[in-house]
Amino acid sequence: MNVLVVYESRGGRTKKVAQSISKDASDKGHAATVKPIAETSSDEITAADCIIVGTWVEGFILFGVHPARATSSWISALPSLTGKSVSVFCTYAVNPRNSLDELKHGLESRGAKIGASQAFHRSRTEEKIGTFVDAALSVAM
Ligand SMILES: Cc1cc2nc3c(=O)[nH]c(=O)nc-3n(C[C@H](O)[C@H](O)[C@H](O)COP(=O)(O)O)c2cc1C
Repeated sequence: MNVLVVYESRGGRTKKVAQSISKDASDKGHAATVKPIAETSSDEITAADCIIVGTWVEGFILFGVHPARATSSWISALPSLTGKSVSVFCTYAVNPRNSLDELKHGLESRGAKIGASQAFHRSRTEEKIGTFVDAALSVAM
């Protein structure tokens, strides 16, 4: 399968998780590409069988926590995702609150079929990567 892992990262943690996800998918025999969202073209989105979108979260810890604004803006400008399997993840420091749901709703409104979702605490990013990738791939197959 053609797996595209796209991410928005400010400090590098989400990038690192995205790279680990891509490596895991590649180790499992898939053609995986990892890119920042800002460098991802519509053609790459269209060509992917399985898309995985990752972002850091921003807010005021106890309220107003949401996916990074750049991620939400990027999603609202995407071409139609009808029929595409899209899985989501975020990295966070304290509590991601409803960030994954916001991410899912934004992608569903573009027509995506949502697969797996996972929040990774920023200091425990390597945990659960294999399980998350397995779930994302199985939904897309
Ligand atoms: C301006 C700013 C606001 C943040 N707000 C929150 C927050 O409300 N809740 C939370 O759990 N983490 C919050 N974080 C932490 C980041 O989401 C977390 O460190 C993330 O892993 C950063 O990913 P990155 O290194 O890819 O940018 C915030 C970070 C920044 C820089």
